[in-house]
Amino acid sequence: MVAVASALPALRISNADVETFLDTSDEWIASRTGIRERRIAGPEVSLLDLAARAARAALGAAGWEAAEIDTVICSSSSPDETFPSLACRLQAELGCPHGPAFDIQAACSGALYGLGLAQSLIQTGLSRRVLIVSAEVFSRLVDWSDRSTAVLFGDGAGAFLVGGPDEEGSQIIAIDLGADGSGAHTLGTLPAPEIDLADRRPPYTRSARALGRVVSMNGREVFRFSTRILEQLVLRLAESAGVGLEGIRLVVPHQANSRILATAAGRLGLPMDRFASNVERLGNTSSASVPLALAEVAAKGELENGDLACLVAFGAGLTWGGVMLRWGPTAVAVDDPAAESDPGSGGPDMVREEAEE
Ligand code: ACO
Repeated sequence: MVAVASALPALRISNADVETFLDTSDEWIASRTGIRERRIAGPEVSLLDLAARAARAALGAAGWEAAEIDTVICSSSSPDETFPSLACRLQAELGCPHGPAFDIQAACSGALYGLGLAQSLIQTGLSRRVLIVSAEVFSRLVDWSDRSTAVLFGDGAGAFLVGGPDEEGSQIIAIDLGADGSGAHTLGTLPAPEIDLADRRPPYTRSARALGRVVSMNGREVFRFSTRILEQLVLRLAESAGVGLEGIRLVVPHQANSRILATAAGRLGLPMDRFASNVERLGNTSSASVPLALAEVAAKGELENGDLACLVAFGAGLTWGGVMLRWGPTAVAVDDPAAESDPGSGGPDMVREEAEE
């Protein structure tokens, strides 16, 4: 892995903002999920915009040209088209050569399925340099009148660049991918209800629905599956890598909610400071969440060369994916327009105004 990057929309929506139109509370959301705010793309930002920003951030950090990318893989659980794929549109947007470009559908495990695929394409000689982008606009896949799902998700994108063993970067030393289709009913989508334009909800809740569907889930079953698979993945990846749990510097999990992370950490006997977490600020960003969390911890210098980072994800399908990385000199970029504004100087207020337009 030569680079990891993330891109976020600027619009920050707090639990208090959501309380203004939904029968919920900051106390309920934070105590059950750990989420305090999320980013929302807003009607003017497309899925492709977010994907292209993450891709350009990764390319810029690595010093690679788009012309050097021979394969583009995208994942999105909240796509805006059945076809053409997001990957084909991104290939054209960036000006990559005409190698394979395709989307994978593995829900929240998409980025890790992408890493596994990229490694095999490179090992078999079919590709030399692969771009993987996971981009999500879940704000267009939730029913904003359903408090049990609307409060959980956020928008964002993450990207990986993967090259051959001759490139500088982090080494993929173990991969574990899987699925159990008998759990397909646990998490899925339903036809979207009509949006009542006369109501008082803010504009970001009225963006075009992703393929006319909204997310539907059995929260308790998802909780049980997620905590179990997270624990198993970390144990299996440590075993494949030939290390004990104490040898893992950081677990970088899918950011579904902080109670899932705390439960899995407790079962593994690991302290929470060994789990990367941004769910408080970003909510659940589905397949973008692992690259987003990895880019953030790497940008903060929390990984040193030689450290083991254990990336783990789980999602609808049911799917799961894990990758053990030995950290090396890896290019990192975080494209976050809201972070550039000083919270004390009115920056977030400007963002808030955008929400209320
Ligand atoms: N605000 C206030 N009350 C709410 C809200 C809300 N946002 N949502 C639900 N409630 C109410 C319900 O209506 C219910 O009220 P009732 O008792 O009067 O009927 C009560 O809270 C309890 O509802 P439950 O659904 O039983 O709440 P639970 O304790 O199971 O918590 C939660 C729900 C947080 C979703 C939990 O099941 C969970 O953590 N599940 C994991 C699912 C998850 O994180 N999914 C993420 C997406 S999937 C993925 O990424 C793989």
